[in-house]
Amino acid sequence: MSAPDQGAAPAPVDASADWRGVATEDTDELSASASSFLRGRSRRLLGELLRPHRRALWALLSVILVQNLAWLAGPFLIGVGIDVAVPALLGGDPWPLVWTTAAMVGAAVADAALRYLFLVGSGRVGQEVLLTLRRRVFRHVQHLPLSFHERYTSGKTISRLTSDVEALAELLDEGLDGLLTALFSVATIGVVLLVLDLPLGVVALLGFPLLYLLSRWFQRNSTIAYRRTRQTIAALIVQFTETFGGIRAVQAFRREDRNDRLHAELNDENRRANHRAFWLIAVFVPAVTMIGNLVTVAVLGYGALRVLDDDLAVGVLVSFLLYLRRFFDPLQDIAMFYNSYQSASAALEKLSGVLEERSVLTEPAEPTPLPAAAGEVVFDRVRFGYGAATVLPRLDLTIPAGQTVALVGATGAGKSTLARLAARFYDPIDGQVRLDGVPLDQLSDADLRRAVVMVTQESFLFSGSIADNIAFGRPDATRPEVEGAARAIGAHRFIEALPQGYDTDVRKRGGRLSAGQRQLVSFARAFLADPAVLVLDEATSSLDVPSERLVQRALQTLLADRTSLIIAHRLSTVEIADRVLVMDGGRLVEDGSPAELIAGTGRFADLHQAWADSLV
Ligand SMILES: Nc1ncnc2c1ncn2[C@@H]1O[C@H](COP(=O)(O)OP(=O)(O)O)[C@@H](O)[C@H]1O
Ligand SMILES: [Mg+2]
Repeated sequence: MSAPDQGAAPAPVDASADWRGVATEDTDELSASASSFLRGRSRRLLGELLRPHRRALWALLSVILVQNLAWLAGPFLIGVGIDVAVPALLGGDPWPLVWTTAAMVGAAVADAALRYLFLVGSGRVGQEVLLTLRRRVFRHVQHLPLSFHERYTSGKTISRLTSDVEALAELLDEGLDGLLTALFSVATIGVVLLVLDLPLGVVALLGFPLLYLLSRWFQRNSTIAYRRTRQTIAALIVQFTETFGGIRAVQAFRREDRNDRLHAELNDENRRANHRAFWLIAVFVPAVTMIGNLVTVAVLGYGALRVLDDDLAVGVLVSFLLYLRRFFDPLQDIAMFYNSYQSASAALEKLSGVLEERSVLTEPAEPTPLPAAAGEVVFDRVRFGYGAATVLPRLDLTIPAGQTVALVGATGAGKSTLARLAARFYDPIDGQVRLDGVPLDQLSDADLRRAVVMVTQESFLFSGSIADNIAFGRPDATRPEVEGAARAIGAHRFIEALPQGYDTDVRKRGGRLSAGQRQLVSFARAFLADPAVLVLDEATSSLDVPSERLVQRALQTLLADRTSLIIAHRLSTVEIADRVLVMDGGRLVEDGSPAELIAGTGRFADLHQAWADSLV
C-alpha cells in the first residue's frame, strides 16, 4: 500500500485505517485489565452487582463444596473396595462390599443432586445479575448528554448492551462453574494425593514445574492473541455498520467493490487472529494431557514396584491413579476458562467505564419551579465551544416571549450550536442562558423539556403507529387531540389516506413516509407538546418546494403564540419571522426585522437578493 514508487503522490484515502483506529480505541481499555486481575472500578461494579445475592452465593459455594467432596469419594471407595471389600468377600463376608457399594451409590446420587442445585441456582443468580446490569447500563446511557453520544458511537453503545453483557453471561453460566470445580478439585486432590501416599504424591508433583511453565506460556500468548481477535472483530463490525448505515451513499458512489475488498481484508485479519488463538489452545490442551499421562506412567511404574515390595496396597494405587486423572482434566478446562475470563473482564471494564460517565448536565438538587413558562429567552454573555476551540466567543441576545426569530448564516457559523444551547443540550462555558429569568441549569428536567422543544431535520419516527408518534411528546393526549394537532399542521389529509389512517404502523409497508411527511408528523408532535419555546433546526429543509404553501401554513400555526427560533433555509420561512438574526463566525452580525434588513446594505440584503433571484 505504501510502496515507495508512489513518490510524492498524495496518499490514497484508505478508510480502513480509520476503522482499525476506532476498533483499537475501543479495545485499548482492555490491555490493562486483560492481563491482571480486575481493576478498581470493575471490581466495584462486580461487588455491587453481586451484593444483593450474597446469601445465595454463599449457599452455592457450600453446595459446590459438598458436591466436590461427594465426587471425590468415588476413587477412594474404589480403593477400599479393592483392598478391603474384595478380600472380605473372598473370605465369605459380603458386608464390606455391600457397604462400599451403598456408599458409592449414595455419593453418586448426592453428586448429581447437588450439581443440579448448583446449576439451577447459579443460573438464576447469573440471569438476575445480567438483567440488573443491562437495565442499569440502558438507563444510564439514555440519560447521558449528547456530547457523550457524539463521542461514543451507537455501535459502541450497542456492543456494550449486547456482546459485553453476553461475555459476562458466558462467564457466569459456564466459566464460573468450571473454574470453581477446577480450583476445588485441584486443591483437594493435591492434598488427597499427598495424604494417600506421600512418596507417590511427590512423584506426581514432579509434573508441576512443567505444567507451570506451560500455563505461563499459554497465558501470556493467549492474552495477546485474544486482544488481536477482539480488535479485528471490532474493526469488522465497525466497517459492517458503516457500510449498511451509509448504504445509500455506498450505492450512489458505487463503492461496493471497494467495501467488498476491505471487508475481505478485515475478515482475513480476523481469521488469522482466531487461527492463532485456536492454535494456542491446540498446543496447550494436548500438552497438558501428555504431561498428565507421563506423570501417570511414572506413578504406575513406581507404584507397581512398591506393590511388588509389599509397601503399597493395590487399591491405594488404583485410587491414586484415578485421582490423578481427575487432577489433570480440570486443568484443561482452565485454559478455556481463561478465554472467557478475559472477555468478561474486558467487558466488565468497558461497562464500568460507561457507568462511570457522569452527565455534565445535572439536574439541580433544588430546581426553580417554572410550571408555565412565558417564553422569554436570554443569552447573557454566553461563551461556548465543544472542545478546545471556541465556537461562540460571546453571545448576547434577548428574545422576548412570543417572538419568531429566523436565524440565518453560512454553514459552520454556529447556528445549530446556538439552538442546542437554547434547548440545553449543552451548558455554556461562561455566561447563562435564561428562560423567563431562570438559568436553564436551575430548571428541573421536566419543566425544561415541557417549556423548550427542539425539532431537527432528522425527524425520527419510532416503531409504532402514526398516532403514537404524534403523541410522543405528550403520551396522555387523546385521539381527538392527536388528530387536532395533525389537522392544524396540515398532516391530516395524508395520514387519513394511509392504509390504517392514524393506526398505520410506520415501520410497515404502506406506513413508510416521505421525508416531508415525516417532517409534518414531527411538527404535529411539537404542536401537540405545545412548548413555550420552539427551536427548529433545519427542520424545513426536507420539505419540497411544491408543498411550500402547505408548510408555510403549518409553520405559521406551529409558531403562533410561542417563542420560536428557526434556523431558516428559505425565503418564505424568513418572511414569516418577526426578526432576523444573521450569524457569522459565532457572532451575531445583523439583527432586525426582515424589512429593515432587506432595505439595508448588509449580508442579509445580499442573501435576500440571491434568494429572490433564484426564484425568478
Ligand atoms: N458536536 C460537535 N462537536 C464538535 N464541534 C462541533 C460540533 N458541532 C458543531 N461543531 C463545530 O462548531 C462550529 C459551528 O457548527 P454549527 O453550530 O453546527 O454550525 P451551523 O449550524 O451554523 O452550520 C463548526 O465549526 C463545527 O465544526
Ligand atoms: Mg446546523
